[in-house]
Amino acid sequence: MTRHFLTLKNLSSDEIISIIDDAILRKKSNIVSDELKGKYLALIFEKSSTRTRVSFETAMNQLGGKASFLSVQDLQLGRGEPLADTSKVISSMADAIVLRTLKHQTITEFSNESSSPVINGLSDLSHPCQLLADIMTFNEHRGSIKGKKIAWIGDYNNMCKTYIEASKILEFQLHIATPSSILSKNDIQEDNVTIYESMEDAVKDCNLITTDVWISMGDNEIDQKKNSLKEYQVTPELLDQASKEVIFFHCLPAVRGEEVSHEVMDDPRSLIWHQAENRMHAQKSLLTFLINN
Ligand code: CP
Ligand code: NVA
Repeated sequence: MTRHFLTLKNLSSDEIISIIDDAILRKKSNIVSDELKGKYLALIFEKSSTRTRVSFETAMNQLGGKASFLSVQDLQLGRGEPLADTSKVISSMADAIVLRTLKHQTITEFSNESSSPVINGLSDLSHPCQLLADIMTFNEHRGSIKGKKIAWIGDYNNMCKTYIEASKILEFQLHIATPSSILSKNDIQEDNVTIYESMEDAVKDCNLITTDVWISMGDNEIDQKKNSLKEYQVTPELLDQASKEVIFFHCLPAVRGEEVSHEVMDDPRSLIWHQAENRMHAQKSLLTFLINN
């Protein structure tokens, strides 16, 4: 049966942990391999990308395979060829396909017709590849995330939703700080997720603080979101109120002066560049797991 990676739920917690352990090992030992020699990865993107595109392309290259970037405008898909037809054709040749789409449903529909593994490279609902890199980075610097306290600051977006999913699978506490106009206390009924309006309350005792842009790609509520989130900025002073061991994550790209201050990006507690590099290491493990298993 073809395994897809559309959300974190497509993997068990043991599989996630083993992919991450493998990624850490690969990174440490700098393994050069030809595990994916002769394999081809297609990247179909409806939205812009720096990290996801480059990390998948370099991962395939370092594993002896090939990848190519296919923007929707250049495919017949952009001229109206049905998604299902595109999926059948591309999956008959490619060994795996990464999709970045506006709507998550597009990825689901594509995967229903695909004979090769489909990987979500970001939708409006989920960014599971980013979470693999985030958990890997946490692991490298602070050990297992199980039982830890994580604060999410800002918009209830695709990244926040993926953290919620991860918190259930990997058993950590998630504190979400967001205005009540975006999410109110009772909107999420999960034992390990707590919603706060106050950032200061949310970060207390937290081991990790993470945030993301106020306005995601494809989000049309620009003025409303900017207005409701204007106080929700991660600063060094906010980090000072968390655990002494706190670290800071941002999936990037960041808007300095909005969700994050200039100072935090360069703060010693910020691990954003490690996170970005780990996209490639984590995806090498994911690709070998999905293509070779
Ligand atoms: N974090 C992330 O997915 O970045 P890109 O949008 O640059 O791919
Ligand atoms: N929430 C952001 C993440 C980008 C990696 C977006 O969807 O634009």
